[in-house]
This record gives sequence, C-alpha cells and structure tokens, in this order.
Amino acid sequence: MRKITIAIDGHSSTGKSTVAKQLADYLGYIYVDSGAMYRAVTLFALRKGFISENHFETHKLIQSLSEIQLEFKKNKEGKAEIYLNGENVEKQIRTLEVSEFVSPIATVSEVRKKLVEQQQQMGKEGGVVMDGRDITTVVFPNAELKVFMTASAEVRANRRFHELKERGDVITLEKVLENVTERDTIDANRKDSPLTIANDAIVIDNSETNQEDQFHILLQLAKDRIAGRV
Ligand code: DC
Repeated sequence: MRKITIAIDGHSSTGKSTVAKQLADYLGYIYVDSGAMYRAVTLFALRKGFISENHFETHKLIQSLSEIQLEFKKNKEGKAEIYLNGENVEKQIRTLEVSEFVSPIATVSEVRKKLVEQQQQMGKEGGVVMDGRDITTVVFPNAELKVFMTASAEVRANRRFHELKERGDVITLEKVLENVTERDTIDANRKDSPLTIANDAIVIDNSETNQEDQFHILLQLAKDRIAGRV
C-alpha cells in the first residue's frame, strides 16, 4: 500500500497532536510533533538565560543553534518522546513557562530553518503524520492530505486548563486563555511562515466534535487518499 504524507496545522490546543498520534498508530506511520521541537529549543534558551520576561538575546540563541540536538525516541508504551541533547525533556517542555516563551522563539528564522530541515528529513520517505503550524504550507507543501484544525479560544483554553490541572500545575483559566490567544496572535502574524490555512487544506472546527468522531473523519480522509480515490 502506498504511504502518504499527512500534514496537520492549526491553532494551539485543538487536539491536533492527539488525533495525529492516533492516526499514525492506526496506519503504522511515524508521528512527529513539530511543536515539541520548538518547545525544546525554548527550554534550551530558558536554561541558558537567553530569554526571560523582559529580554530576548536572539543573536546568542542563533549562535548556539549548532549545540542543540533534538531526537524523538519511543518510550515503553510506544509513545515518541523528545530528547534535547540526550535528555528526555517531554515533561519539561509542557509547562506554562515554556508555552509563554515558545511563540517568540518560533519567530526566529534561523530556528525555523534548522527545524524545518530536520522535519523534512524525518518525513522524506512518506508514511508520516506531522502536526504544527507550517506543515501544510512550508514543511510538506505537497502532502497528499492537508488538514487545518481549529476551535473557539474558550474551548481550547478550557481543554488546556484541565490538562495542566491534571498534571498538578497551579494556574487559572484566565491565564491559560490569555496564553492561548496571545500565541494565536503571534503565530498568525509573524513574518516567517505565519499560521495560515493552505488553499487545499480541509478545515475542521472541533469546538463541538469529540476525539473519537474527529479521528474517524480524518481516517476516512486518509484512506481515500491512500486508495487514490481523491
Ligand atoms: O503545537 P504546540 O502548541 O506545542 O506548539 C508550540 C509553539 O511552537 C506554537 O505556539 C508555535 C510554534 N510552532 C511553530 O511555529 N511551527 C510549528 N510547526 C509548530 C509549532
């Protein structure tokens, strides 16, 4: 059976990663969470002190890019986790602190160039599901299936709030909503590879769709393309 490329973009906290992972598992494809890569670079920059509330030493980050090595490795349950210079940072990259600084980091063209090259390398054989913000437009503009996922900011903030609370983070819904809308604005307005809907992307608004239904919608879209029906 031919192996296609599935590119999923969309707003933060739309459940992109969950459905992308489900799809990859079902089809036996590689799953790549490109947001995790931007988050790992952000964690690196925070640890080095290149970025904080009121300063961002962009040039220092750019100079240090060659020191950043990112890898995905599967854990015992078969879930891919991200490693930054050999250290598993899957948990550390999901904090609100990293979420607050990741969008400015993702505006840096040199960072994007490095990560896009690695992403294209990972997907060069096809048989990949990748989610992010520029996958349908920049990383895999020729993907057989392109999807753009969205939902209202309130629904997304609610989902993220519950996720963070379950992990034991102390935060308010207002703070999470503020982060979600601020990231939307920065992601959509940056100069390099802004978040936009590709002409040939299928838009899914999942404000009122559950995970299960969404998975079946995407699976059918993928099957049609694998079989060459579309
Ligand atoms: O999907 P996420 O929320 O984990 O992504 C974190 C941030 O990384 C997001 O706010 C913007 C950036 N990002 C990006 O610019 N391009 C991608 N392909 C993936 C993520």
